[in-house]
Amino acid sequence: MAAADVRIFPALKELSESAAERISEIAEGAAAQGKNAAVALSGGGTPRALYELLSTGRFARRIPWDRLQIFQVDERVVPPDDAQSNYRMIRQALLDRVPEAAAHFHRIAAERQDLEWAANEYAEEIRAELSPSPNGWPRFELILLGMGDDGHTASLFPSTHALDEAGRVVVPNFVPRLGVSRVTLTFPVLNAAAEVIFLVAGAKKAPRLKDVIEGPPGSCPAQRVRPVSGRLSWYVDEAAAELLSGRQRKGS
Ligand code: 6PG
Repeated sequence: MAAADVRIFPALKELSESAAERISEIAEGAAAQGKNAAVALSGGGTPRALYELLSTGRFARRIPWDRLQIFQVDERVVPPDDAQSNYRMIRQALLDRVPEAAAHFHRIAAERQDLEWAANEYAEEIRAELSPSPNGWPRFELILLGMGDDGHTASLFPSTHALDEAGRVVVPNFVPRLGVSRVTLTFPVLNAAAEVIFLVAGAKKAPRLKDVIEGPPGSCPAQRVRPVSGRLSWYVDEAAAELLSGRQRKGS
């Protein structure tokens, strides 16, 4: 991968603060132009601290929430109050604490029996709210992604059907390794974004992060996130960055 924009932070706290700052800037920028900004939030564990931080006075009072349309990157096929639900995590960390954010939140109804319907319904919601990118895909101002230690991102797992999706915005994706289905944004949408930030923390991620950032271009899903006309940054903590070479570390 060309010299990526890798920002190394001492720990998850500082990483989350920087990400919260960036989200605030994007929302303030949109508001200053009288526009809305669409952001897509990942689930999993890493971003929880960020979402909780966004709900504290420092950011909750600063962010023009009425200018932020908040979407999900992906969702597990479970009820919305299930412990595995990404929506439940985002609701607990942010939406229950900031009603203004909840008012502009768009949930993936992944509990539905008909996942194709749920995916198409969500894609319509996205298209209705977002303006298209030059190549016609709905363009998020910001997409926050995580990365699994297998290199998956969103619910785009290695060797799964959705990796090759080139025509749809949102698809169901069966993940054999987990034996479950997910609903996820697809690569064309991720790569149509104005800005993508990966949030990666913890020593467990270090080998895969080195592969993705410094290894040869491969088929690893996280390596296939390359915004066509947008900015890609990696916000990582020291533990995850442990194996990166000096070259990358100069960026911090
Ligand atoms: C999900 C996420 C997924 C996540 C990675 C990293 O539904 O789990 O969207 O892509 O970002 O699995 O998860 P952690 O942050 O928990 O390591």
